[in-house]
Amino acid sequence: MSKIVSGFSKLSKQEKIDWLTDNFFENPIKAKETLQQYWNDNRVLQELHDDFIENTLSNFYFPFGIAPNFVINGKDYTIPMVIEESSVIAAASMVAKFWSSHGGFKTSIISTTKVGQVHFMYKGDAAGLEFYFDKMKPQLLRATESITQNMRKRGGGILDIELRNKTAQLENYYQIHATFETKDSMGANFINTCLEAIADEFKRSDIELVMSILSNYTPECLVRAEVSCPVSELYKDNAAFLANKFIQAIQIANAEPHRAVTHNKGIMNGIDAVVLATGNDFRAIEAGVHAFAARDGQYKSLSHAEIKDGIFRFWIDIPLALGTVGGLTKLHPLAKLSLELLQNPSAEELMQITAAAGLAQNFAAIRALTTTGIQKGHMKLHLNNIIKLLDASEKEKAFLITYFETRTVSHNAVIEKYREMRSNSV
Ligand code: MEV
Repeated sequence: MSKIVSGFSKLSKQEKIDWLTDNFFENPIKAKETLQQYWNDNRVLQELHDDFIENTLSNFYFPFGIAPNFVINGKDYTIPMVIEESSVIAAASMVAKFWSSHGGFKTSIISTTKVGQVHFMYKGDAAGLEFYFDKMKPQLLRATESITQNMRKRGGGILDIELRNKTAQLENYYQIHATFETKDSMGANFINTCLEAIADEFKRSDIELVMSILSNYTPECLVRAEVSCPVSELYKDNAAFLANKFIQAIQIANAEPHRAVTHNKGIMNGIDAVVLATGNDFRAIEAGVHAFAARDGQYKSLSHAEIKDGIFRFWIDIPLALGTVGGLTKLHPLAKLSLELLQNPSAEELMQITAAAGLAQNFAAIRALTTTGIQKGHMKLHLNNIIKLLDASEKEKAFLITYFETRTVSHNAVIEKYREMRSNSV
């Protein structure tokens, strides 16, 4: 039976759910219950969420947690994080505490420039096009004046526009490459509106406009976060040996893309969690960060480490085009609360906090991987999730937790112990 439907978006929420559950589920009543149990009793709040997207049927909960004890540039922060992975907040909190008594995180903004492009095709003479662009440039900027007025008042706006000849990459392909400062907003709407106005003003019968869009590759919207301390303070025992292993782990991530991807994934555990908690666009951040990690032609580690004169230094340079106004940042009540928890930071401050969270996460992962291994801590936390899937009583749960305190946790081991426990009690 065909599942193609017309006019779906015009149906009511209940009609949409009926169509869905009748067509796709063996037990439509159960599917309906699952969707409806996540509805919010607060009608206003539910309607707010319904309106974020089209065809909303329910809410998909992710845990919202906090990692306290971050000291960044001498200021204390409790960082909000939205993440489903059990070990992430525990690791961030532990690392934050450690560095809070070792000088804290030092962060700085390297640059905040964003990019947008008008892509077009032109078959004529390149010099003629350059002449036309140079002549039009003041007019193109004037065409955006009403759009950029407010942004200019806040110290932002269009920084420059230039014509780029890309015909070596693709026949007849040119672009207007525009750079922007968008202050506290992520700037996607602002940039795209400016670009469309520029494209409209620029068009001519022999110029075939293809598209106007911001770029999520933001290597010039860059922030640095770092930590440092004497090697001797980094570990209780064997500090020099373990610090060297830490450095080797970074070198391996630089030499080997398979490792680099996982290494950077660990960084994104921290970054994405803050990006989500503050209502920012994690897909944009992810795309931009990974392109940056591959900017030399090979995908490499985003973080760096060195030991010089007995001092261990660990740092990250990462592009983070974040906003603290616009988008969902003030619209989603929990994003708004997250920003308030961070003392309503500017976008630059949020970039620095987020970079510190990413570096903390990476520090925790590399330290664990090069000492005890990652599974011990991971599986301890995962134990709770495995137990939850079992139909265990409170007493049985407590027994399993105690039993695995001194044993290796694996999914099979937990199930086996649970079965053994059950059969003994029968
Ligand atoms: C797991 O979510 C993240 C790690 O794999 C990161 C890493 O290997 O560096 C532990």
